[in-house]
Amino acid sequence: MPILTEPTVHPGRLSGQSPPVLVGDGLTVRPWTRADAPTVFAAYQDGAIQRWHARTMADVAEAEAWIDSRHEGWALETAGDWAVESDGVVVGRIALHHLDLHDGGGEVGYWVLPAARGRRVAPRAVGLLAAWAFGDLGLHRLRLMHSTRNEASCKVALAAGFAHEGTLRESGKHVDGWHDTHVHGLVAG
Ligand SMILES: CC(C)(COP(=O)(O)OP(=O)(O)OC[C@H]1O[C@@H](n2cnc3c(N)ncnc32)[C@H](O)[C@@H]1OP(=O)(O)O)[C@@H](O)C(=O)NCCC(=O)NCCS
Repeated sequence: MPILTEPTVHPGRLSGQSPPVLVGDGLTVRPWTRADAPTVFAAYQDGAIQRWHARTMADVAEAEAWIDSRHEGWALETAGDWAVESDGVVVGRIALHHLDLHDGGGEVGYWVLPAARGRRVAPRAVGLLAAWAFGDLGLHRLRLMHSTRNEASCKVALAAGFAHEGTLRESGKHVDGWHDTHVHGLVAG
């Protein structure tokens, strides 16, 4: 069935290039490589990352497969995923999920390694990603969602300029049951 709207971002825009490296605000955001697998594996052993992402990893081989799947998401133009470095050391992750180039939207996700928390790594990385997504890429809107019980993530969203737009009741399935979810949004310009 023909779509009556023009694509916000034309197909092929992502798959035709490598994921960008973004530098600014004391951070470098760069694509994952297989050499990061031990760091990724360690991240998913952390209790807070397990709790809020409802995932774990069995071994470094699973982390390597996870990294490979990040590049598949980019090739399919459905997702992007980057390591966040500070002073040359990986301190976290920033991601764009549920990318819809036609409608110009995507959802931001992140985690920060325990030793680097409390230094505004996440809001700074979200800021770099949003500047690229609205600037170079040309998206129109970014969404950021978190359990209402994850107060640190709510602070990240607000610090990065994402307005609180509402609450989805019992929409997030966690190990301890259903959580309400806050929806935050940031619109280009
Ligand atoms: C949520 C998270 C990404 C925040 O990243 P960050 O770079 O530490 O963000 P900030 O430095 O801006 O801190 C945000 C809030 O985290 C809390 N915080 C600060 N230091 C912390 C620490 N050492 N450990 C845990 N939380 C801390 C504070 O409430 C802080 O807000 P405040 O500065 O107004 O008090 C990080 O805590 C994390 O990875 N948590 C586990 C995974 C997760 O929640 N992912 C998001 C799912 S939606």
